Amino acid sequence: MICFAHRGASGHAPENTLLSVRTALEMGAPWIEIDVFCVQGQLVVIHDSRLERTTNGRGNLMQHSIANLRSLDAGKGEKIPFLHEVLELVQGRCSINIELKGPGTAAPVADLLKACIRDGNYMKEQLLASSFDYPQLMELKQLVPKLYIGANIYGVPLDGAGFADAMGVYSIHAHCDFISQMFVDDAHRRGIKVFVFTVNHAEELHRMAALGVDGVFTNYPELLCST
Ligand code: G3P
Ligand code: MG
Repeated sequence: MICFAHRGASGHAPENTLLSVRTALEMGAPWIEIDVFCVQGQLVVIHDSRLERTTNGRGNLMQHSIANLRSLDAGKGEKIPFLHEVLELVQGRCSINIELKGPGTAAPVADLLKACIRDGNYMKEQLLASSFDYPQLMELKQLVPKLYIGANIYGVPLDGAGFADAMGVYSIHAHCDFISQMFVDDAHRRGIKVFVFTVNHAEELHRMAALGVDGVFTNYPELLCST
């Protein structure tokens, strides 16, 4: 089963920082998941649209200048990283799942990932873009047709994995509370991988293994990876 270090090794270091990414690399994670917003044309790695939970800043991310955002402490003295910094750190070492958050991320992410593939920094199999925002995923797929995309889902759809099949995704990223054997089997019948978030306990991991899911997102990569 594939291990995705969720927001980096976020059980051990401040989430979505270069430190959490570096920690995940040191722990041998084959995949790292991070969250990306576009602020004034710049791609920054952070999960929330507000700053309070993960930084010493306040208010809405979008209402700050990049200089101000970069001056904040995202935990243990870490800055909010730019996406290109994370890509540079990870390249040649593991694969990366970029989750699009907020509006306006598809086009700048497309530009960056096209350059990564063109320059040989990443093979297309090492990149996976995902989102709960399906229009942005479709925009991204149109801009970079060969890119693997993953549809995030929180809930149980009426049509099983049919919605994702229609989108032409590589994978579905489903919440562990809503996963069922029927859903996993339906996705697999359609040739779609199932990755489940967020699995932080061994018993939950065993339940996922029994369902036959293809991978899990975890804050604790040591659950699956050996260093
Ligand atoms: O991509 C899997 C998972 O990260 C989606 O939820 O809220 O942790 O970004 P969230
Ligand atoms: Mg995420």
